[in-house]
Amino acid sequence: MQRLDKILSEAGVASRKDLRGMIRAGRVTVNGVTAKSPEEKYDETTAEITVDGVSIRKKTAVLLMLHKPAGFVTSTDDPRDRTVMELIPEEYRKLDVKPVGRLDKETEGLLLFTNDGDLAHSILSPKKEVWKTYYARHEGTATDADVEAFASGLQLRDGTVCLSAKLEPVGPGESRISVCEGKYHQVRRMMASRGMTVLYLKREREGGLSLGELALGGVCEVSPEQI
Ligand code: URA
Repeated sequence: MQRLDKILSEAGVASRKDLRGMIRAGRVTVNGVTAKSPEEKYDETTAEITVDGVSIRKKTAVLLMLHKPAGFVTSTDDPRDRTVMELIPEEYRKLDVKPVGRLDKETEGLLLFTNDGDLAHSILSPKKEVWKTYYARHEGTATDADVEAFASGLQLRDGTVCLSAKLEPVGPGESRISVCEGKYHQVRRMMASRGMTVLYLKREREGGLSLGELALGGVCEVSPEQI
């Protein structure tokens, strides 16, 4: 959802200042109704907008998957570090895509981007149960007691309680972890709460999507149904 004046200025109709006057003068309609306020928010991918009776092209909704390398921060702008936006081709950056959730600077793997705010919200909402699966190399080795603790809802060292999660030991110092929420540093903190410091972390899956053959640093379009 975006403000009407922002949608129209991004579509190149006029400046935000001029647009305010045009909207107040009744020259803009949204979904067949004359718009009253520049601040009103609409879904820029579905709203039917006209200015002086001429239709404004809708922004194409797009969903992208990046195979994020370590060393990039999940941010649109950073004074010190390289950001994941640098890995997104210009043609998609122009469509105003943003990361859906985040991966830590040192975490590799699947990171989604979209310009559809509602889609981003539903991917991130724990209620929608979009499970994310990580491969971790870590100190120590996961035990049955750790698996049980993950399943029953771990309490982190700062007291935060997590939703039920899956821990699958893969071998000595290696595990797969699946969670359906996205707290800050969640997997690293969950593992640390059981005495297993994470040394390497990669997100392999998000809902029905996996990295497949996508090369490190590569980007491809995916459809929301695949999630
Ligand atoms: N959990 C973490 O701790 N780090 C990530 O990057 C993603 C999930």
